[in-house]
Order: sequence, then structure tokens, then C-alpha cells
Amino acid sequence: MNSLPDPAASPSGVRKILVVGAGIMGSGVAAVAAQRGLDVHLYDVRQEFLDRGLSSIRAALEGAVAKGRIPPKGKDAALERIRPTLELSSAPPVDLVLEAAPEKLELKREIFRRLDPLHPAPAILATNTSSLSVTSIASVVADPGRVVGIHFFNPVPSMPLVEIIGGFHTSPETRARSEAFARELGKTVTHSRDSPGFVTTRSMAVLVNEAAWMLYEGVANREDIDTAHKLGFHHPMGPLELADLVGLDTCLAVLERLYTGFQDPKYRVCPLLVNMVEAGRLGRKSGEGFYPYPRSPSSGNGGGSHG
Ligand SMILES: NC(=O)c1ccc[n+]([C@@H]2O[C@H](COP(=O)([O-])OP(=O)(O)OC[C@H]3O[C@@H](n4cnc5c(N)ncnc54)[C@H](O)[C@@H]3O)[C@@H](O)[C@H]2O)c1
Repeated sequence: MNSLPDPAASPSGVRKILVVGAGIMGSGVAAVAAQRGLDVHLYDVRQEFLDRGLSSIRAALEGAVAKGRIPPKGKDAALERIRPTLELSSAPPVDLVLEAAPEKLELKREIFRRLDPLHPAPAILATNTSSLSVTSIASVVADPGRVVGIHFFNPVPSMPLVEIIGGFHTSPETRARSEAFARELGKTVTHSRDSPGFVTTRSMAVLVNEAAWMLYEGVANREDIDTAHKLGFHHPMGPLELADLVGLDTCLAVLERLYTGFQDPKYRVCPLLVNMVEAGRLGRKSGEGFYPYPRSPSSGNGGGSHG
């Protein structure tokens, strides 16, 4: 892990990136990329979000130092490679843009519309969407061949997987360079077609929904449902704990995307999930989901894994 690849010699040709959105995922990608020697421009819409992202990045890099993955001065060098900005057009043209804004199709399409002239070919325009149509996002740019889904997992520094999703028009070169980029960040790559939820989010959403149905029907209580998955299947966390980590609103949005995307009643959402979202019980981020999360200064997102 200490030997950084020479970005100049990278098969992806990616040396400078722009990360759009400094939230959970964007800050994670920025930290890993800077740690690996890339120049990172980081954009968000408000200073407080940039500040929050930068403190997550600092914490991730301190974690890398503590684990011996980088020397202490590697952390400082990585931080110096990150340039935060509140102005999308102020970043110079980069080799790859990774969009990690909220999971809303129209918002992402608008961001890609703006990015298109700012980062001309051969720049790759990538989205970190976990369920939306890459093809639909790509349809707003002049050359949809350079748009791709590069789906990282939470928390980015420790999760080894990247799911690459080619849209209808994604070029073979864009796919190959995206895969090389993910490998250069130390990740293992799988490929999925541009189908609602791809592989990982589709599986995750079905598991969460089924667990919610079992709780709703009284098949078992929440602890037993989660314990059964952890001890019976070696899952690192139960599906209800996972739903709380991801956010019940996000789970609901993904299930609705699967339901409408496939027009298949097998994705019908458990009414308990709908009611909980309407009641504001969104999981860790709201302080209560299937489990309570008492507020403390150190409480936050963290600790698990999600696609
Ligand atoms: N959270 C996860 O576990 C996870 C895992 C894999 C993929 N994803 C996907 O990654 C993307 C980001 O998710 P997240 O969990 O990091 O969300 P988040 O809410 O933590 O971060 C989103 C960030 O985008 C910013 N933002 C809002 N409007 C913007 C705009 N117009 N332009 C640029 N930035 C804007 C927000 O201020 C925020 O900082 C989503 O598409 C999500 O589905 C999330």
C-alpha cells in the first residue's frame, strides 16, 4: 500500500479529477484519490458542506496513517492535493469527473449538462449513482460515450468493490479507462448493465424490503432478523441495521425505482418502510430507524458498508 502508482504511467490516463459533491461518498473518493497521488478538485454548493467533507477526508487520511498505509507526511501531501471550490466552473479541465451529488435524476442531469463543456473529451464523466439510469444521465451531454457509472461503496477507503456500469452509449474506451482508474485506487471491479439498481443496490434493496416485510408480518423481531443474517450468512450487519445506515428514505427511493423500472410487483414496498419514512424515522441520520441512535457529539454515519 505504501508504493504509490506513478499517475503519469497509469493506463487510465487519470491524473486530475473533479469530485462533485463533498458528502459521504464524494469525500471518501477524494480522500482515496489524493492518497494515491492524484490532484483532486472538490466541489460542493455550500461552504459548510465543503468543510464537513474536508474534515471527513482528514479523518480518513488519519485512519490511513494509523493503519500504516501512508506515512504521516503522506497525509499532509494528500491534503495539499485537494482543492475545494464553491464554483463548478473554477476547476480546470480534468481527466475524470466523479459526480456524487444526491440521488435525484433531474439534479444529476443538470450537473452533467453543466459539466459537459467544462471538461471536454477525452475526460470521463462518471456518476456514483447507486440506482439511477446511467443512460438517462448521459443523454444530456453531446457525447454520451464518455459517461459511465463508477459505483463506489461506503465507506470508500475500506470497501474494496467498485461496480462499473456502462450506459447504452458508453464507449469501450471509457469502460476500460474507468476500470483502470478504479484499479489504480486499489479497488476490485465488477461490471453491470444499466439496469435499475444494477447488481449491488438491487440485492441490497430486496434484502432490506424482505426484512421489513418479516418484521411487519411478525415473523421475528428486529434483533432476531438481524442476528439470523449475521450468524446464519456471515453478513457483517443485519438488513435492518443496514437500512438504518443507508437511510430508510434512500432505501425507499431505490425500491420505488426498482418497482417502476421493472414494472414488477415483486418489488412492492413494505408499508412499514413507507410509514417510517413518512414519520421521519430515517435511520442513523435522523436519530431513529429500526433502532434508536441516541445523539452524541461523535455519532454519525460510519461503521458499515453499503452499495
Ligand atoms: N451513502 C452511500 O452509502 C452510498 C453508497 C454508494 C453510492 N451512493 C450514491 O452516491 C451519491 C452521493 O451519496 P452520498 O451518500 O454521498 O450523499 P450525501 O448527501 O452525503 O452527499 C451529497 C453531497 O452533494 C451535495 N450537493 C447537493 N446539491 C448539489 C449540487 N447541485 N451539485 C453538487 N453537489 C451537490 C450536498 O451538499 C452533499 O454534500 C448518490 O448518488 C448515492 O446514491 C451512496
